[in-house]
Amino acid sequence: MLFQKKIDESKLKIPAHVAIIMDGNGRWAKKRMLPRKAGHKKGAEALEEIIEDAAKLGVKYLTVYAFSTENWNRSTEEVDALMDLFAQYLKDCVERTNKNNMRVKVIGERSRLRSDLIERINEVEETSKNNTGITFVLAVNYGSRDEITRAVRKLSSNVKDGAINPEEIDMDTISSFLDTASIPDPDLLIRTSGEERLSNFLLWQLAYSEFYFTDCLWPDFNRDELIKAIYAYTKRDRRFGGRKK
Ligand code: IPE
Ligand code: IPE
Ligand code: MG
Repeated sequence: MLFQKKIDESKLKIPAHVAIIMDGNGRWAKKRMLPRKAGHKKGAEALEEIIEDAAKLGVKYLTVYAFSTENWNRSTEEVDALMDLFAQYLKDCVERTNKNNMRVKVIGERSRLRSDLIERINEVEETSKNNTGITFVLAVNYGSRDEITRAVRKLSSNVKDGAINPEEIDMDTISSFLDTASIPDPDLLIRTSGEERLSNFLLWQLAYSEFYFTDCLWPDFNRDELIKAIYAYTKRDRRFGGRKK
């Protein structure tokens, strides 16, 4: 498009919860003949900016997919580089949360992570838990089917112990056993890099979210791209199965 109309930001409907599948770091690096880990590093920088932009726009929850339960299938070199990046990222996060009043929560299965990483996750969650600004949710070793499986396991043991009566299990009970307990469902899901699939992300929580796909590779994603996604969201008509007004 030669001429793109400027978006009037004052008319945007800001989603309370934005979830992002940050995809395309590898392709970004490949295009520049750089190693994949250079793409991940640039991706982490893009994320830092986006958290601030989202907070300033009034987004209350930002959830990002950083590493899936399936991503262990990548080379040891790439997995190690990613784990190093998370460790550094979480360390910086502790400082940042104090400055910008951000609350951090990590979802996913932790026991498979390196012990230094687990310590940092606990530290950042603990130091930021009373902050009242944006809630930043980082999904590491996260897979929705794994999350649901763990939830069923926990729920069943509660039933076995007599703490929960099977007849009383409702949808809220199930939500409360997921890693995302107490976090509202995403309003908008963004996936970058042109792929149009969920790749095992938040299957339960995304039941009524609006989806937005863009060809933009994650390291190139910025405030303008976020505004475009929110603009698309603003135009959607969310009906939740009800009648059109
Ligand atoms: C997303 O970028 C980051 C992770 C999955 C960790 P990719 O590494 O999947 O990048 P592409 O899809 O190969 O371009
Ligand atoms: C999904 O991206 C996981 C993250 C962005 C962390 P992938 O690149 O791993 O997904 P597939 O393999 O293309 O489905
Ligand atoms: Mg990918």
